[in-house]
Amino acid sequence: MARFIDELKRSHHCSALRAENVGQEVVLFGWVHNRRDHGGCIFIDLRDREGVTQVMFDPDVSKEAFNVADRARGEWVLGVRGTVCDRGDMKNDRLATGAIEVNALEATVFNASLTPPFEIEEKVDTHEEKRLEHRYLDLRRPPLQRNLIKRHKLNQATRNYLSDNGFLEIETPSLVKYTPGGARNFLVPSRQHTGNFYALPESPQLYKQLLMVAGYDRYFQIVRCFRDEDLRLDRQPEFTQIDIEMSFINQDDLFTIVEGMVFKQWKDVLGVDLKERYPEGTFPRMKFAESMEKYGNDKPDLRFGLQHVELTALTVEHNGGGIGMLEPLAAKFKSGEYRADLPDEIVKAIRVPADAGAFSRTELDKLEKYVRQMGSKGLARAKVGEDGSSWVQSPLAKMVTDDYRKAVNTAVGASPGDMIFFQFGKAQTVHTVMGNLRVHLARKFGWIPESGAEGDWNFLWIVDPPLFEQEDSTEQGGKKGWAAAHHVFTRPHDECIDLLETDPGNVLCYRYDLVLNGFEIAGGSIRLHDPEVQKRVFSVIGLSDEEAREKFGFLLDALQHGAPPHGGIAFGMDRVALLACEAESIRDVIAFPKTQRASDLMTGAPTQVDPTQLAELRIRTLE
Ligand code: AMO
Repeated sequence: MARFIDELKRSHHCSALRAENVGQEVVLFGWVHNRRDHGGCIFIDLRDREGVTQVMFDPDVSKEAFNVADRARGEWVLGVRGTVCDRGDMKNDRLATGAIEVNALEATVFNASLTPPFEIEEKVDTHEEKRLEHRYLDLRRPPLQRNLIKRHKLNQATRNYLSDNGFLEIETPSLVKYTPGGARNFLVPSRQHTGNFYALPESPQLYKQLLMVAGYDRYFQIVRCFRDEDLRLDRQPEFTQIDIEMSFINQDDLFTIVEGMVFKQWKDVLGVDLKERYPEGTFPRMKFAESMEKYGNDKPDLRFGLQHVELTALTVEHNGGGIGMLEPLAAKFKSGEYRADLPDEIVKAIRVPADAGAFSRTELDKLEKYVRQMGSKGLARAKVGEDGSSWVQSPLAKMVTDDYRKAVNTAVGASPGDMIFFQFGKAQTVHTVMGNLRVHLARKFGWIPESGAEGDWNFLWIVDPPLFEQEDSTEQGGKKGWAAAHHVFTRPHDECIDLLETDPGNVLCYRYDLVLNGFEIAGGSIRLHDPEVQKRVFSVIGLSDEEAREKFGFLLDALQHGAPPHGGIAFGMDRVALLACEAESIRDVIAFPKTQRASDLMTGAPTQVDPTQLAELRIRTLE
């Protein structure tokens, strides 16, 4: 061992050697990826995080080295000194180092390995739980190595770009004050202040605003955030943000900086010049209201059509169009209880063009099941007849009035053979169901890949959302209450400030999300720094002065000590990496991720702790 490492230093990593290195003497260190005994010579593919190199052990060249190879098994750790040789006709085009092999002159075993519980290969069908349990082995697999290397490059591109643009990387605390509202916090008990708790930050939001007040204009941080929420494909309980805050800027200024950053990341890390798709260097923008109407959510995937068609007004106009199920909704609207701009019950349709392919009975049943899982009562549908006007294969066909059917056909742009799917009911459910159905259908038709982008990077800003949303349950004097749709320090549009008291539902604000291929990859806002307007916003959501002080006291104080106009954004780094790496799951771009149930299968966390430790914290657990 002493000769290797002490005297023989690594000369190359395992993906470095090419034809031009032939004849050189090299030293490689790595793991036995693959061992083949060809009776006479042994071939070992030596692997490190960069790739593999074939090493030939010929007993006529070195008996000692051959004996090392003879003993070695999968995942043993070896050191090899040898000569780079041309593989001639035997070259392997699928391997970066495929033109050469190393002829071993000397070798050593650094360490043996137990037989790994699964293959260390590009693709394995071992259950993910098993792989997470032995994450250090899973991380040896090439796809995960590529992902983590890419993620490193994303971090570097981000840091370089932001630093070059005058941003300071400033760290903020991880033990913070608990503030109610927002995502559920993880709590950390304090030993020195028994009975008291810190929270782990769901984001450095308040601190970055305080940094602006403190005059540290242009802050960024690649920072870990913690949210105790239900996990999904693109969510982890601890995740990383590229957190950004700037002073003396408006929304356009912030977009310019952020667009520059994404262009740089894509160029440096993926070698993709986004200027080819976005020659102006900017991403398109869509208003929140348009996004909800056409796509049912605020993160539309614009790689395909299948837009929603709003039929609420039309349905009301036709008194439900003869369709019994739609009549109550139409009647409610008529009574004046509902407002066209804030309907809480709606009707929407999606038209699937005939050339997308026909639906079999079984497929339609499956779709029906799919929407029911999301809380829908069913999926009303109609196929447009050969005459381009009638509806066939539809329970609605018998009831619908001619006028309503024709009006719907016109609204959705129906042609013979098209299929129309309908949803009606609670706005939120209809949006969600139709939003998901749209993506589901696009996958079925192969209009978007199962995973990955295949070079199709579709970015979109969603802008101008409402500042408030109506609370579902709180009834205040017969009227529904208002809540901040995002956070209460978001600045309303100037022209909407007068509506704060009279028409809160129509107050739009400077909040924005950046969407990539249907994923929300970033979100932020221009902040409200005017204490007077802030008071009025609190009053809309029914937050008294005392309550506001209790919740945000230190920020409110700071905002009164010379707060510059400011705003910011945070990128979900794991989501950016997920998309950039075209990985299937967010766990594939995180070295040590948690499962869907927020556990770490390798260490077993979370675990119970020693009772003495709990006693020290004066904590008792309940059954
Ligand atoms: P927001 O809550 O929108 O904004 O979060 C910003 C981005 O973080 C990512 N993200 C997550 N990624 C993985 N797992 C999660 N559990 C998770 N939750 C959020 C998303 C999201 O767009 N302080 C504000 C930003 C600001 O206003 O400047 C904030 O945290 O990609």
